[in-house]
Amino acid sequence: MHVLVIGAAGTTGRLVVQSLAENIQHHVKAMVRKTDQMAEMEQLGARPVLADLEQDFSYAMNDVNAVIFAAGSGSSTGPEKTTSVDRNGAIKAIDLAVSHGINRFVMLSSMGADRPDAGPELMQHYLQAKHDADAHLMKSGLTYTIIRPGALTNEAGSGKIDAAPQLADRTKSIARADVAGVLVQSLLAHETESRIFEIIEGDVPIAEALKKI
Ligand SMILES: NC(=O)c1ccc[n+]([C@@H]2O[C@H](COP(=O)([O-])OP(=O)(O)OC[C@H]3O[C@@H](n4cnc5c(N)ncnc54)[C@H](OP(=O)(O)O)[C@@H]3O)[C@@H](O)[C@H]2O)c1
Repeated sequence: MHVLVIGAAGTTGRLVVQSLAENIQHHVKAMVRKTDQMAEMEQLGARPVLADLEQDFSYAMNDVNAVIFAAGSGSSTGPEKTTSVDRNGAIKAIDLAVSHGINRFVMLSSMGADRPDAGPELMQHYLQAKHDADAHLMKSGLTYTIIRPGALTNEAGSGKIDAAPQLADRTKSIARADVAGVLVQSLLAHETESRIFEIIEGDVPIAEALKKI
């Protein structure tokens, strides 16, 4: 597939780019917003495109047939950026995928985005933004996969996860490397089409876990 990674220079995004570039079944286009991030994307084996979710980025969607959304405004910015990037930026990306005839869309969402009002008060605005983007994707007509991880860590990936539409254990975390593995492997795993599921660290190899989703 020809895959656009949005948020490609992020901590998870660059692991996604690396994994896609190592897979001969994929060509990867890496959307970054700073010129000094372009060389690293080329070194990883991606074609960089300079674009910003808060501006016109429709040109970034040319020549691809799948999108992985791994961008996020982060916790150091305020609620306006959460709305502008995590909610509106994601919704714009979904609409652009539709208008460009790109059928496959894999969204990095968050555990708790199904019920924002049940989350910790400080997280509710963020979870609502993720919820709204996910809801828009579900109604878009695209072939979607919505992945909702627990808290992310920078530990080495194990290649193994626990995945289910609703996990009983909501306290465990997951390595970004394993989240990247799930995002990339979902692209070609038909069992994940039109599915929303939660992931945390676990004992089941990613490919096997995705088959049972
Ligand atoms: N942290 C957690 O525990 C957790 C849990 C569940 C889900 N998530 C979700 O996982 C995703 C990735 O998390 P992460 O920690 O790997 O992210 P990260 O390292 O903060 O990276 C986010 C990326 O998004 C990019 N970005 C921000 N604003 C943008 C804009 N306006 N246009 C284009 N790109 C923009 C950033 O660009 P720059 O490099 O230019 O800054 C950065 O590369 C996020 O969507 C987050 O909501 C996180």
